[in-house]
Amino acid sequence: MNRRNFLKHAGAGGLLAAAWPAFAQSSAPETGPSAGLKFTTPPSLQNPGATAMTVAIGVSGPSTAWVEYGETEQLGRLASGTRHGLKPYDSLAHQIRIEGLRPGQRCFYRVHACAIDFRNAYDIRRGETVATDIFSFRTFDPNATEARFVVWNDTHENATTLARLMEQTAPLPADFRVWNGDVTNDNYREERMVAHYLGAGNQPFTRESPLLFVRGNHDARGPVARALPRFQETPGGLSYYSFRHGPLAGVVLDSGEDKPDSHPVYAGLGDFTAFYREQAAWLEQELKKPHLRKARFRVAFSHIPFWWQDRGFAGDADDPRSEWHRLLAKAKFAAVISGHTHRHACFPPDEMKPYAQIIGGGPRPEAATLIQGVVTAKELSLTMTDLAGRELAAWRVKA
Ligand SMILES: [Fe+2]
Ligand SMILES: [Fe+2]
Repeated sequence: MNRRNFLKHAGAGGLLAAAWPAFAQSSAPETGPSAGLKFTTPPSLQNPGATAMTVAIGVSGPSTAWVEYGETEQLGRLASGTRHGLKPYDSLAHQIRIEGLRPGQRCFYRVHACAIDFRNAYDIRRGETVATDIFSFRTFDPNATEARFVVWNDTHENATTLARLMEQTAPLPADFRVWNGDVTNDNYREERMVAHYLGAGNQPFTRESPLLFVRGNHDARGPVARALPRFQETPGGLSYYSFRHGPLAGVVLDSGEDKPDSHPVYAGLGDFTAFYREQAAWLEQELKKPHLRKARFRVAFSHIPFWWQDRGFAGDADDPRSEWHRLLAKAKFAAVISGHTHRHACFPPDEMKPYAQIIGGGPRPEAATLIQGVVTAKELSLTMTDLAGRELAAWRVKA
């Protein structure tokens, strides 16, 4: 079922309830020791580029997986997910990279998984296979005439907020979506991370439109927080990166924790100060690249805001993140989009900063927000709405 049909069948109210079981179809009888393999999440599009896309999906047990894809619903090509000579084998989630696409290309795809009964190195048995419905996405295109995106932040596992955000998001056209940090509260079990990071709380959030993941301080907390790349693939495996689509160039920064590394709650396990410096050095070089330099508009995503009213790390010379501010200001960024404070705000440029600081709301339904971005060659427009669709703030800037 494609998205149009899915929406038609489900209707607005039925969308959320119907979303979960709708994407998995079993294509073989349930027999053998590995019977019952299921997808536990909708497909999740990650690490988008002009010629590639990663499809990730949760599975209920030990399995391998692959993606069938093509320019039409006939598909016809195969992405094997091979890394270092080995095809995928995992019991929680798979990430399969599709490469060799064209910029702005529509690509249809379906994910397959096959149960694997790994008895020993010489006795590996294949079981049933399951496949998703066919979905499609479009690759990034630096020559696109416009870029549209939607931002969520600080959902903190709030099921009501996630469901209502999805209701607001589903009808909005988006070339990509951004999860601007604090998807979760803490990461204690990798099984839960599948549901949170791939499943978007059971919402088909990134099935046809890729996700740009921005790590929040809560995403970096908990004993299994280091497993995050297993569930959210980012360029080069780094939580800071840049991208380009049409007139928009973006930078994602990882603003780390909200307390100093020396704070006793981290027991000495945080090393964010060095990480901020690493990102500053990277940013200085990255901003020289044509995809950023030549874009009509530049926007940064950072979970923790650079500014909150007249305060913020950007103005603290002792904080290495203040260097990010200096670099973005020099590179004429139009806006920094953040979350973290759980109170929405929109600070236009002023004498402290030549860019707007936009901050999305918090996890409770009454505080949650959705930020919609529309970027053309002439204008960048950011509109923040609440869960009833009421406009809370808007920021527009001409080229
Ligand atoms: Fe938060
Ligand atoms: Fe936060």
